[in-house]
Amino acid sequence: MPSVSAPKSCILGTGAYAPDRVLSNADLERLVDTSDAWITERTGIKERRVAADDQASSDMALVAAQRALEAAGLTAKDLDMIIVGTVTPDLPMPACAAILQQKLGAGPIPSFDISAACAGFIYAMSIADQFIRSGAQKHVLIVGVELLSRILNMKDRTTCVLFGDGAGAAVLGPAKADGAGILSTKLYTDSSLVGSLCIPAGGSKERLTPEALGAQRDKVHMAGQDIFKVAVKNLTSASRSALEQAELPSSAVRWVVPHQANLRIIAQVAQRLDIPLERFVLNIEKYGNTSSASIPIALDEALRDGRIEKGDTVLMCALGAGISWGSALVRV
Ligand code: ACO
Repeated sequence: MPSVSAPKSCILGTGAYAPDRVLSNADLERLVDTSDAWITERTGIKERRVAADDQASSDMALVAAQRALEAAGLTAKDLDMIIVGTVTPDLPMPACAAILQQKLGAGPIPSFDISAACAGFIYAMSIADQFIRSGAQKHVLIVGVELLSRILNMKDRTTCVLFGDGAGAAVLGPAKADGAGILSTKLYTDSSLVGSLCIPAGGSKERLTPEALGAQRDKVHMAGQDIFKVAVKNLTSASRSALEQAELPSSAVRWVVPHQANLRIIAQVAQRLDIPLERFVLNIEKYGNTSSASIPIALDEALRDGRIEKGDTVLMCALGAGISWGSALVRV
């Protein structure tokens, strides 16, 4: 069991990237039968970012990773491992992490993707922590990157208004003696809702036939209400478990950096955890749901603008397709 007094790995630096192009709710009003009022009231989203046609996930990940390395005072040559959480890799194979390794100019280090949808960054953080904790690796780059605009049906108002593109990254390394570090992580998957949030075609189960493409079965399909209910319940319980594992009360949490899927989900989790919403880092209004990128983008923003200060205890929690979810408690 991890000890609160002696964390073994810590965050050395973070970075983020969001594409320049802004897609507002007003823009979406012209594409589908929706309204700024509905989107704002039901989700908290006002606008989201969309990647340029010539950008791939690895391009966005590269900028976020370079910023994280700079913040950590390291170069790509110092890295021992790269883990990328994404459901939108550049190619079905090889891994986005392999392409990122090449673009960064890192050495021949283990580099692999994690497919845990919106929980991808938490999964990557937990795995990196295990490798550093065991002494097997020293510096691990973790990235959450999504180019979700490529996998959205822009005629489906129940999904196309929710998601955005972006990337966030962190460099993890051995903890120093200042008490900063990863205090606990918790990971879960419950496959009973696989069909409630998935891309039906394009994998080994269903081929990309003209019929499948015509029916947009290569795009995100989601039963939003099913996911909403389990999101509130599971994000709350995972957050409590991370606190219990670190033997800390919720009052010890200075900031919560939640996955930015829906402001109503976040507000209900805040209420159940008895942590005021003012202590949640929120940027869903600007970026929408960027899946695995949402936590590292919000974390980076709050670190850079000084909201999160040295010594703060930060709780992170995320849930997405799988359904996979998890939490991490970190002292920065
Ligand atoms: N604009 C206008 N009306 C809409 C829109 C829209 N964009 N979307 C749906 N509606 C309509 C529906 O058709 C429905 O109309 P009806 O009552 O006439 O049938 C009505 O609004 C209510 O629809 P609900 O689906 O019940 O709306 P809800 O309040 O549940 O909000 C939402 C939908 C935002 C999707 C919510 O359920 C949600 O956030 N779910 C969780 C999403 C999530 O966390 N996903 C996991 C991460 S994503 C990942 O892993 C990649």
